[in-house]
Amino acid sequence: MEVVPLTTAEQVAVLAADVIEAQVRRTPAAVLGLATGSTPLPTYRELIRRHRAGAGPSYDEVRCFNLDEYVGLPPGHEQSYLVTIARELTDGLGIDPGRVHGPDPDEDRLATAGERYESLIVGAGGVDVQLLGIGSDGHLAFNEPGSSLASLTRLKTLTAQTRADNARFFGSLEKVPRHVLTQGLGTILRARHLLLIATGAGKAEAVAAAVEGPVSASCPASVLQLHRHATVLLDEPAAAAL
Ligand code: GLP
Repeated sequence: MEVVPLTTAEQVAVLAADVIEAQVRRTPAAVLGLATGSTPLPTYRELIRRHRAGAGPSYDEVRCFNLDEYVGLPPGHEQSYLVTIARELTDGLGIDPGRVHGPDPDEDRLATAGERYESLIVGAGGVDVQLLGIGSDGHLAFNEPGSSLASLTRLKTLTAQTRADNARFFGSLEKVPRHVLTQGLGTILRARHLLLIATGAGKAEAVAAAVEGPVSASCPASVLQLHRHATVLLDEPAAAAL
């Protein structure tokens, strides 16, 4: 694992955007793994800024796979991760919505959602670069502490901590869904390059556990230690406990 301590969140965003752009320049039909949450937003803004300035690569052939999705929101809900990724990134890069995928939260077909999403990712040739944030309890995507290190896409119940963390996006805790579909840790580990970004003091302990602690289900992000090509970009507050 390569840990890159930087100073500011802006530097993290610029470097993360560099990595993603370099991948798309190398392989124009790159498969990008995308994350939600607030941490990637400056990276997404940087990619869109460069694209609009004519400085970025073409994204016409790129395909994107989201890490996770809420279950129980009405289709098109503004907090759905498919809608969020389109709004925050892929529309701005001119990527056709048909090339952006997420786990299917249709409640009538939940039983097969995991298997179908895994097949879709494999069918696309697998993820070239997977952007990741980290939860304050060390979760990756929605793999909460205790998740199997070999898990694949499946239905999960959110912890009270994660629902509280994400309440800011919904206006109140009661509106945060209780269930989600998430890529598993095993799914994430199949991506060819993992790019974890963390900013702010609130992530310092989770980052230290992920990078320096034992590989353990109690800190799902510690699976990065098992990957042959993992990069961790940190601002100064997020690196403070290393
Ligand atoms: C959610 C997402 C994760 C993300 C985490 C941290 O739980 N499912 O993918 O890493 O939030 O979010 P933030 O970047 O807002 O701290």
